[in-house]
Amino acid sequence: MIKLAIIGYGQMGKMIEKLAANYDFEVVSRIDPRLGTEICPKDLNDAEIAVEFTQPDTAFANICKCVELGVKVVSGTTGWHEHLLKLKNFVADKGGSVVYGSNFSPGMNKFYEIVRAAAQIMKNMKDYDVYGYEMHHKYKKDSPSGTAKNLAKILINELPQKDKVIYDSLQRIKADDEFHFASVRSGNIPGEHRIGFDSEYDSIELRHTARSREGLAVGALLAAAWLSNKQGLYEFKEVLAGGKD
Ligand SMILES: NC(=O)c1ccc[n+]([C@@H]2O[C@H](COP(=O)([O-])OP(=O)(O)OC[C@H]3O[C@@H](n4cnc5c(N)ncnc54)[C@H](OP(=O)(O)O)[C@@H]3O)[C@@H](O)[C@H]2O)c1
Repeated sequence: MIKLAIIGYGQMGKMIEKLAANYDFEVVSRIDPRLGTEICPKDLNDAEIAVEFTQPDTAFANICKCVELGVKVVSGTTGWHEHLLKLKNFVADKGGSVVYGSNFSPGMNKFYEIVRAAAQIMKNMKDYDVYGYEMHHKYKKDSPSGTAKNLAKILINELPQKDKVIYDSLQRIKADDEFHFASVRSGNIPGEHRIGFDSEYDSIELRHTARSREGLAVGALLAAAWLSNKQGLYEFKEVLAGGKD
């Protein structure tokens, strides 16, 4: 069994703990301010790999601390990816191993491909305006979701008629080269993302709905198993693709 640390003992951390043994992991460490534990050799308790689901402000520092201490990391925290270039250099310098991703659901990663293909089909259909819409539970700390940002990036890259995404509410008429991506936070919704193409006559909508956090936790554990014999910085989609050695 591989010794696993759970960093961030919240909704995702607890779900990962519940499923860990099914994927040959033994949870030897739980690190969370609420438990009075921190990322240090004593509290890591000889963990070989850590899964990190905390919050945007602390994720980058958490990952760097693990790398510094020779612990491999799978990070699912969203809202910190502006530090990726710095992390890439740090990981290369220290010989660390990290997988990151905004959405560890294998289905969502297929949804990215479906949205890319739809955008390629729709790119010359000038009468159709694209929109995005995402919903999550009321405890989510960042908005828009990291997944929404990935979807927006795909659409901006593929659709020549769109140059920018607007996440905020619009107090004016939307320009033709903008597309609107709205966020709703309520109740206990595990995660829903919709991409639509709307015209005067009809509307086409693609939707991904997470039924629970379980699929996301399984994806994180698969990434941790995959990372156990790898070195470097990887995005989750490389895990699904079989990855580069
Ligand atoms: N990639 C994916 O597939 C995926 C899936 C689901 C969620 N997420 C993301 O993962 C993150 C966590 O989600 P969640 O639903 O599990 O949130 P959550 O229930 O709020 O859990 C986060 C936990 O981390 C703790 N924490 C905060 N700072 C920490 C630190 N420096 N070290 C260790 N623990 C720390 C929090 O404690 P306090 O409450 O005391 O701050 C809390 O117990 C969010 O960014 C979310 O967007 C990603």
